[in-house]
Amino acid sequence: MGASMATGGSFAPRNSFTRALFLTVFCFVLFIYTFKPSSMEHIEHLRPPQMHPQPNNSYAPERQSDCTLKQSSLMQLQETYELGDEIEYARRYVRFNRQDIPRKAITKLDTDLFPRGFDSIDIRNPPPRTTCLKPIDVPVPRSPIPYTVNASELLFGISTTYSRLTDEEISPINEWAHWLTDGNGKSNGAGLILRLIDASQEELEEARHVMASMGMDVKVYPTDSSIEMAKRYLSLLPALYKDSSRPNRKFLVLGDDDTFYPSMHSLLHELSQYDHKKDLYLGTLSEDTNNIARHGSQAFGGAGVFFSLSLAKKVADKFDHCSTNEKIGESDTGWGPQGDILLRKCIYENTETTLTLMRDLHQLDIQGDPAGFYEAGLKPLSLHHFKGGMWHKARPYEGAQIVHACGEDCFLQRFQTADDFVISNGFSIAYYPHGVDFNLHQMEKTFTAAPDDYGWNLDFMLGPQRKNLLWTGRKVAWELMESLVQHDGSVKQIYIRKADDYRWTYGKDGNRMFDKDGVLELIWISS
Ligand SMILES: *[C@@H]1O[C@H](CO)[C@@H](O)[C@H](O)[C@H]1NC(C)=O
Ligand SMILES: *[C@@H]1O[C@H](CO)[C@@H](O)[C@H](O)[C@H]1NC(C)=O
Repeated sequence: MGASMATGGSFAPRNSFTRALFLTVFCFVLFIYTFKPSSMEHIEHLRPPQMHPQPNNSYAPERQSDCTLKQSSLMQLQETYELGDEIEYARRYVRFNRQDIPRKAITKLDTDLFPRGFDSIDIRNPPPRTTCLKPIDVPVPRSPIPYTVNASELLFGISTTYSRLTDEEISPINEWAHWLTDGNGKSNGAGLILRLIDASQEELEEARHVMASMGMDVKVYPTDSSIEMAKRYLSLLPALYKDSSRPNRKFLVLGDDDTFYPSMHSLLHELSQYDHKKDLYLGTLSEDTNNIARHGSQAFGGAGVFFSLSLAKKVADKFDHCSTNEKIGESDTGWGPQGDILLRKCIYENTETTLTLMRDLHQLDIQGDPAGFYEAGLKPLSLHHFKGGMWHKARPYEGAQIVHACGEDCFLQRFQTADDFVISNGFSIAYYPHGVDFNLHQMEKTFTAAPDDYGWNLDFMLGPQRKNLLWTGRKVAWELMESLVQHDGSVKQIYIRKADDYRWTYGKDGNRMFDKDGVLELIWISS
């Protein structure tokens, strides 16, 4: 499990029973991660990343929507998502119009999304065509695309293991390519120092080779599991500081292997507000007051932590002093020494600098259904803890593919249509049968804090949340499973709702809202 937790276990139950329970869960997850038989022997076998051809203006705006249905594609979806033979299906082209407008929390459209409802389709014998509608038009801000980013001022550091890197389920390699390249196989200028714990020479070489061939500017080094994890984490900052590329950098960045930066232009823009020549320790707190009470007030590393060079130098100079056995002991809050704490103590005990909050970074110490967060219309600068296991499960890499066509602001941007659908672009299409009769400016509390949820633990970061609509019959959502940037620059998204989804019922043990699985396809085309 290792690296994801490297910067600090984010929970520590206070009574011994819950502690034992969580220790058991923890060991189980550790067991799964450690012994899960991987059919993947080598990184080459991983799904290749998508290339993102530059959208060009030769797209004919009056092109008819393509309404043909391919049985082979439907069967592919059926196999992957275990869909029943009979499904409810709809496709809609969405024509985005890039304008000089701000990104709104919610954009209301006066048109219907699915005015003719859904088609009933038998995958064993599908009709040749689906209901054909003309594209729905949506205004979006003229925000930049990854192809044009220059992130050379950033040098990132991550530790992980070769087995996590090559794991079919949790490999972060495509996500890293999203924020380290231009989306087209070339570096965006940002550098990565990758440390692989206990890796062999061949593993280091293979990781380097594969990542370089995907366009990442990466240096791969071994590190040793016999070094205390917290100390290993702290030592990454001096290692970044000593890298030969330092003179070209403004910020050195620590993160976990599951830290994802969807919008590099926006991240750089946010950082540009600060004077990089000053001592800076930039990051964010856990969303959960429990974790701050337990571990202290510091940057929680999974959200990403940014250091100016001058502060990194001070940490590098004090490294020995900051990583004595005594200091390591002081960083143990009952769940083993924490890298985040060791780092905070090093800075707070030796400099005048304290944490500057970047509130759009997200540690995401939430469990359960994360929909409320991803459907809140936010524009996150980082996301974390989305690989399942004891935390939540989401697909921000797939979701973020939309930025290659529509621009960075489009990811998780919300559109409310006249027929009471809300698209959270790249996460879900939700339908509210009783109308949108709640406050869209509050987050829906679909998730819980871990492990003690007082109902208000998360309020200081996420705002008080509104009641969730699970089991009420008032909401149903199709969630994004796949996203493909097509040759003409359009983006095809597949959203799926299973009939047996535990959330979409009338009452907690009540009847299902739908008796068939559902597939919605959105195809985003530029105007
Ligand atoms: C990126 O920015 C750096 C620093 O401003 C500059 O030296 C470099 O030439 C830029 N790279 C590209 C490809 O524009
Ligand atoms: C632009 O897109 C069209 C439509 O897919 C494609 O045929 C054409 O080759 C593209 N042109 C360029 C210059 O990439």
